Amino acid sequence: TAQTIQDELVSAIRTIKDYPKEGILFRDITTLLGDARAFRRAVDALVQPWAGSKVDQIAGIEARGFILGGAVAHQLSAGFVPIRKKGKLPHETVRIAYSLEYGLDEMEMHKDAIKPGDRVILVDDLIATGGTAEAACKLLRSMGANIESACFIVDLPDLGGRKKLEAMNVPVRTLVEFP
Ligand code: PRP
Ligand code: ADE
Repeated sequence: TAQTIQDELVSAIRTIKDYPKEGILFRDITTLLGDARAFRRAVDALVQPWAGSKVDQIAGIEARGFILGGAVAHQLSAGFVPIRKKGKLPHETVRIAYSLEYGLDEMEMHKDAIKPGDRVILVDDLIATGGTAEAACKLLRSMGANIESACFIVDLPDLGGRKKLEAMNVPVRTLVEFP
């Protein structure tokens, strides 16, 4: 029987209750990554709007955004820019504090990773409150990036992340939603 890509991706994602904190329904994409067909379909679907267009850099957010962002960069023949948790990058960085669904942290990017005017796509596995992606967009724009889009496999729409990015004029692309 025909299965839509949404159905296939939703069934490949595992849900863990009360991780990393009580009350959180954790959407675990490791099962999707381990399913060769679902992984390929997710990456193909994410890049589909930019096939054949010029994108300079894919920015990926540590850690799960690295896995997807590397695959997306390869597919679009773009460079890859790691946005890392604080203290991990060796050269001069820009840094920003942010909050997410279950905590607070700081992230950094190398100052010379983006040239003014670069066409950049931000990639992560999931958007919840959007705090993480919003902070990443601020870092990218502080170095002069033109953010073409922010892409995620999973949207948790009740947490408002998409609206937060759209309010800062970042187009958002997601593949599946969990209520
Ligand atoms: C998760 C996820 C996103 C972020 C989304 O990362 O991969 O980056 O949370 O939450 P938000 O929309 O509420 O900001 P996490 O910080 O758990 O890091 P990890 O990828 O290292 O597991
Ligand atoms: N990051 C933020 N909220 C999350 C959730 N509910 N599941 C997986 N990753 C997340």
